[in-house]
Amino acid sequence: MALRFLYITTTALLLLNSAVNAQQDEIQYQVISMINQPDTSMVVMVDDQQYPLTQSSESRIVYTGSAPVAQSGYQYAKANGNSILEHEPFTRQPVESDTIYEFYNRSHNSWEIPSVPSLYDPLYNRIDTELHLEGQMGTIHIYGNASGMDHMHANILDDITVITNMTYIRGNDLITFQNTEIELAGQSSKWIPKLSYNVKISKDDDSDLYGYRRLKIRALGMDPSYIRENMVYKALHAAGVATSQFSYVRVFIDDHQVGLFGLIEQYKNPWLRNEFDNGNKDYQQGNLYQARAGSDIIPGYESDLGYIGENETLYGAGQYKIKEDPSEGEPSFRPIMDLTRFLANGSSHDVSEWEKHFDMEALLRSLAMEILLGFSDGYFTLANNFYLYQNGLDSEQFVFIPADVDTTLGLTIVKMADMLSGNYSTFPGFNMRPLMPQLLQVPELKERYEHLIQQLSLHVVTPDVFDSVIDATVNMIRQDVEWDMRLPKLSTFDWSTVPPFDFGPEGAMYPLDNETITDAMSRTEPITFDMAVNGPTGSISLAGVKEYIARSNKAIKSFYNL
Ligand SMILES: *[C@@H]1O[C@H](CO)[C@@H](O)[C@H](O)[C@H]1NC(C)=O
Ligand SMILES: *[C@@H]1O[C@H](CO)[C@@H](O)[C@H](O)[C@H]1NC(C)=O
Ligand SMILES: *[C@@H]1O[C@H](CO)[C@@H](O)[C@H](O)[C@H]1NC(C)=O
Ligand SMILES: *[C@@H]1O[C@H](CO)[C@@H](O)[C@H](O)[C@H]1NC(C)=O
Ligand SMILES: *[C@@H]1O[C@H](CO)[C@@H](O)[C@H](O)[C@H]1NC(C)=O
Ligand SMILES: *[C@@H]1O[C@H](CO)[C@@H](O)[C@H](O)[C@H]1NC(C)=O
Ligand SMILES: *[C@@H]1O[C@H](CO)[C@@H](O)[C@H](O)[C@H]1NC(C)=O
Repeated sequence: MALRFLYITTTALLLLNSAVNAQQDEIQYQVISMINQPDTSMVVMVDDQQYPLTQSSESRIVYTGSAPVAQSGYQYAKANGNSILEHEPFTRQPVESDTIYEFYNRSHNSWEIPSVPSLYDPLYNRIDTELHLEGQMGTIHIYGNASGMDHMHANILDDITVITNMTYIRGNDLITFQNTEIELAGQSSKWIPKLSYNVKISKDDDSDLYGYRRLKIRALGMDPSYIRENMVYKALHAAGVATSQFSYVRVFIDDHQVGLFGLIEQYKNPWLRNEFDNGNKDYQQGNLYQARAGSDIIPGYESDLGYIGENETLYGAGQYKIKEDPSEGEPSFRPIMDLTRFLANGSSHDVSEWEKHFDMEALLRSLAMEILLGFSDGYFTLANNFYLYQNGLDSEQFVFIPADVDTTLGLTIVKMADMLSGNYSTFPGFNMRPLMPQLLQVPELKERYEHLIQQLSLHVVTPDVFDSVIDATVNMIRQDVEWDMRLPKLSTFDWSTVPPFDFGPEGAMYPLDNETITDAMSRTEPITFDMAVNGPTGSISLAGVKEYIARSNKAIKSFYNL
């Protein structure tokens, strides 16, 4: 009797269950795809049955629709009425519940990427953010002001800001921003047809992207490996210094597929409070200066931390730019003048005096990384691409922050062999800039610097750590790199109107290497993706990324007998 009862209840439960299942059988399929052809629509083919998808009201590059849970698999396709025009060349594994926003013609939604273990704890209190999720890629659609964007793409040397809409899609998230300001980023970034962008999310409706409002969309256009910036930010993070992190995004602008880009944080508010005080809205920030090189810089006034006298105005001649104002009071160049005055006689001061003026761990770790990662456009070489942050309101102490790390890891305009001697003194510009010759005369600082170079080389900038990270990353982006390389580029600027670039007086200010630059300029055959990742390339202006890390590591080991 009991058995019989059990049998009946179990059967009833099973029946009930399958009834519920039958109702749950339909799930939502969601795919990102840009269709510009008329009479074409997206469908999902579930176990070879077609189900229509409709354009989402939230984004016109998203198609959604319900269809049964697949038994054997599903794939997305483009169709005209009932006839399939093309379909994904692979089958997706069945899923039991609504899909995330999948990307048309990409076989995986996420990847396992090994992490780069941190050698040191972070020096500051960075906010916990989902802006960059390891092994995932976002999609950005900039739309709604095509004429403004076209105008900007045709007039790249003008400072144009376009007000437009932007959607960010990743995983289950689809976030739309109105009145977003877009401008072209960089100086040399504009010389290539694939452009980089700065994004400013409007403050209007209190919106942000995982806590950030100011972002950079980096073209990665000078780097045929597409991984340099990604790897450098990972290495800097492992060294515990203040820095942006990095994630990949697929970018669409109006009706154009634009390709694979890097998303990084712009060092603009709310970045400082996010990086230094866990996003605390009451954080009291100091001045933030960007140090820059360029044809407008007067020789003798490079942003090399040199002392140029007691006239504050001279520090604002273009070499240092105030990027963020202090929370209270007026922005000023006085703090940076005070810093350089100290540094001018730095060798006569002890460590505790240095510490008052500079966060020394941040400085020494960052400058050790310039050596190990081969920054060819950083502090030593071009007195460029770093920020100096006054560490809180009215603070006397500065924080050195590396930035824009695209010309690194063997992509160079200075002599690569001198970067890879294992002897930091031969690094191009090392003794040209006033900081190190002073700093290294303080024995404890010299010892700490050499210790950091050795430890960071042994435990971070080494093939033992990076080769597996690089392999997994290359695997993740390969389909997108192929896509990116096929796409037309958006710059319509006519370069024939501009006279050829002239190094002029810069030649004397910077340790540029004519042979290296000539090599870079005369490259006729592009270096392939795999070659650019692995090397050896045989080129003096561009090494493979793995090749460079191996050579850097080997040079340090042999110089210090490690
Ligand atoms: C952004 O989207 C809103 C809502 O769709 C629209 O009203 C507005 O005109 C768009 N703005 C721009 C600059 O395209
Ligand atoms: C498009 O951007 C331009 C700036 O290039 C701006 O003047 C214009 O208002 C924007 N159009 C819309 C519809 O927001
Ligand atoms: C500081 O330098 C600026 C720019 O060269 C100059 O105009 C100004 O007179 C100088 N001020 C003083 C007090 O010398
Ligand atoms: C550096 O020290 C020397 C000798 O004490 C002094 O004459 C000079 O003014 C100092 N320079 C600065 C920038 O403080
Ligand atoms: C490192 O390079 C510097 C500058 O070329 C040189 O003076 C020094 O002797 C080198 N050190 C060693 C140990 O080779
Ligand atoms: C789909 O991806 C494959 C492999 O990356 C590529 O060869 C093919 O051209 C892509 N098809 C479309 C329609 O993008
Ligand atoms: C740089 O190299 C090129 C080609 O090797 C040569 O023609 C030119 O004279 C060199 N310029 C300088 C400043 O050395």
